[in-house]
Amino acid sequence: MPGDKSVSHRAILFAALAQGETRIRGLLRAEDVHSTWKAVERLGARVREEGGEVVVAPPERLREPDDVIDCGNSGTSLRLLAGALAGGVPGLSVLTGDASLRRRPVRRVVEPLRRMGASLWARDGDRLPPLVVRGGPLAGTRHVLEVPSAQVKSALLLAGLFAAGETTVAEPAPSRDHTERMLGRMGARIAVRGSEVTIAPGRLRGGAVDVPGDISSAAFLLCAAAALPGSEITARGLGTNPTRTGLLDVLAAMGAPVAVAGERESGGEPRADVTVRAGPLAATTIAGALVPRLIDELPVIMVLATQARGRTVIRDARELRVKESDRLAAMGEALSAAGARIELFEDGCAIEGPTPLRGVAVRTRLDHRIAMSMAVAQLFAGGEEVHLDDVACVATSFPSFFPTLDRLSEPAR
Ligand code: S3P
Repeated sequence: MPGDKSVSHRAILFAALAQGETRIRGLLRAEDVHSTWKAVERLGARVREEGGEVVVAPPERLREPDDVIDCGNSGTSLRLLAGALAGGVPGLSVLTGDASLRRRPVRRVVEPLRRMGASLWARDGDRLPPLVVRGGPLAGTRHVLEVPSAQVKSALLLAGLFAAGETTVAEPAPSRDHTERMLGRMGARIAVRGSEVTIAPGRLRGGAVDVPGDISSAAFLLCAAAALPGSEITARGLGTNPTRTGLLDVLAAMGAPVAVAGERESGGEPRADVTVRAGPLAATTIAGALVPRLIDELPVIMVLATQARGRTVIRDARELRVKESDRLAAMGEALSAAGARIELFEDGCAIEGPTPLRGVAVRTRLDHRIAMSMAVAQLFAGGEEVHLDDVACVATSFPSFFPTLDRLSEPAR
């Protein structure tokens, strides 16, 4: 599997803030991570490839960028950089992105960073990118997030590295904790208590990062295998951080056997070889603290639900509306046009299955996960064509997705 996107972004950015070089093994080579890579170069870091690894050589201190920083499609780049720039880079930085990113909310980082003393401005009443950050002194603050968000938490923890005093972030339910793990390994003074994290100011030190396989990319293939009779797929070296494995719990609960073997830890992140087999699928309910553990997998889980017996209900997932697209609207439109029985709620949906799907034309809306989810839906469309209007977005996270899917699937008969 390609390297984990979240871990890859963090490896490049944290390395740029550290003292001494960092060697990264297994970095995801995809457009999203390239956005972070280009951003840190613009801020004065040097990034080179060496024997299959990526080496980041940070400057003594990051410097004011001489042009706008283009984060492309990457919300992670934009939000994490906002935190790092607010305290760590003197002068003015401007962060922008593609049409999808420029529709995604930034007030969720602007407001808490301002409470730390940061100077930030954004378009449309501080709601939308471009985002302007002027680096300056920050004060450690206690933040209580209304919605679990690893991006917001990470932005605040990065700002906390440069603040006077301690910074705490409390979440209503734990979101992915790659930031906490990596910052700890790079020498930050960071303490986790339940879903609350506290960081003290300090300088990171470079070292080695080993990126696990991306469970959110594997999800498309694992879900396909779970629903196609006779299938079995093993994803080797997959990241199995418990804040990311909600999908495996859901697959098992729906009746697709999941086997986890060769569990090991490398670079502070657990990984394993994960095998999923097809099973007669039954509906399930997804809500509450499970949601942040599978937030990016929900579009393909919606496809899976069309093949499961009974009514699958997804709740507490309003965040899907502010991802690379409004994923509830996008999947609702695409799946109902494909013949699924789906009811949308403001914070989720209900899907009644099983239903055979049919061919459909899909607007992918600059959203890689909509494109890949509907490519999986095609496997249940009885050989009919699913037409995706634009698949360039897949390069955001999983450039080899289509060849991999082709290699694994037999033509429908
Ligand atoms: C990410 C966190 C999640 C996730 C996104 C990547 C990260 O977003 O959806 O794909 O790397 O921190 P939120 O923090 O907005 O929930």
